Amino acid sequence: MLRLFYTAMAMVLLLPLTSCSEDALYVPVNEVVELNVPANFPQPAQDVSVTKKGFELGRKLFYDGRLSADGTVSCSFCHEQGYAFTHHGHQFSHGINDHEGTRNAPAVQNMAFQTEYFYDGASNSLEMLSIVPIHNPIEMAETLDGIANKLRTDREYVKLFGEAFDDAQVSSGNILKALSQFMAMMVSANSKYDKYVRNEPGSSLAQQELSGMQLFRSKCATCHATDLFTDNSFRNNGLPPNPFLNDKGREIVTGFASDAYKFKVPSLRNVEKTAPYMHDGRFGSLESVLNFYASGVQQSATLDPQLTHGGVLGIPMTIDEKTAIIAFLKTLTDEEFLTNPLFYYRT
Ligand code: HEC
Ligand code: HEC
Repeated sequence: MLRLFYTAMAMVLLLPLTSCSEDALYVPVNEVVELNVPANFPQPAQDVSVTKKGFELGRKLFYDGRLSADGTVSCSFCHEQGYAFTHHGHQFSHGINDHEGTRNAPAVQNMAFQTEYFYDGASNSLEMLSIVPIHNPIEMAETLDGIANKLRTDREYVKLFGEAFDDAQVSSGNILKALSQFMAMMVSANSKYDKYVRNEPGSSLAQQELSGMQLFRSKCATCHATDLFTDNSFRNNGLPPNPFLNDKGREIVTGFASDAYKFKVPSLRNVEKTAPYMHDGRFGSLESVLNFYASGVQQSATLDPQLTHGGVLGIPMTIDEKTAIIAFLKTLTDEEFLTNPLFYYRT
């Protein structure tokens, strides 16, 4: 009986440490958040467990310049919501001290469904990938320990880490976990196209969009596959290598010459908003992308076999076909995602 009493006392004494609450018996509940897998999506490829507090902390971190060495460059600096989290108007992103990178910032959306990240697949973990921009000397030029040290002096952050994680630590590991929880929830699946394929009431595509969809399915969907619009593979789509960069893509990661100039097949969701296009942002419009596929594809040792048929390079398309495909691509714009206040944080 007495022992029970002491155990109860100990619990009451310990509670305030974890709850930061005036009422010792009140423990804040950190709800587990389920990832809603849209009916037309494949199963997630990443195993991320998300909580409400972890997600909210990750969102705050994503928008915080203190993740960079001089306090000016947040993740959101290069990944802007209104442009599907790409760097609007930038061929290459410039990070700290205006240093310019060599790749175009890709969209951050449906990340939990991807197996590899970055144009060359330098990371295969949603939880670990944030190390790359944080440590990159021309992006954020910080270290995880450096960030943790800064945030430990901020009472608000100490409280938020305490609420989000069982160990209550402002630590490198928890910073990465929170960012990945935020990104895991960034699902774009409510475009006009999605509503149409899910047969939602009142949804329809115009005639030109429908014929664009058929053309897309026969000419593009082997690589831009499933309703994620990527098969998560690396391929050489025949772009002439950029002479100033000579970016070899996947070969940088694997070391195999057979991977030279292969890049991750990007999702085409919200593609209307994510110009400029390709790993080096060389095309400013969808028209120029389609002109490239029709007549600009270059032969090379690693060119994807699908882009050379019976000696014909590229994907033959008439002007009307290109126009229809572009009309279809614009049905992938998801205004709900681009404006959802859940993914925005005012600093
Ligand atoms: C200076 C601009 C810049 C900053 C700051 C930045 N990024 Fe990026 N991000 C990029 C570029 C450029 C790429 C493409 C790099 C590559 O492929 O090698 C990228 C790629 C990514 C990808 C991979 C997407 C995909 O489809 O493979 C994710 C996810 C991402 N960034 C998240 C973040 C997070 C989280 C932060 C903050 C911790 C961040 N970024 C900070 C420019 C930036
Ligand atoms: C053989 C595979 C393959 C086929 C077929 C293919 N693509 Fe691509 N696509 C890619 C790869 C790989 C990239 C990325 C290349 C890079 O960044 O250097 C890409 C990039 C793109 C981009 C740029 C996206 C961005 O965010 O930068 C668009 C738009 C695009 N493709 C549209 C199409 C259309 C439309 C078709 C059909 C007419 C098509 N693709 C056929 C593999 C393919």
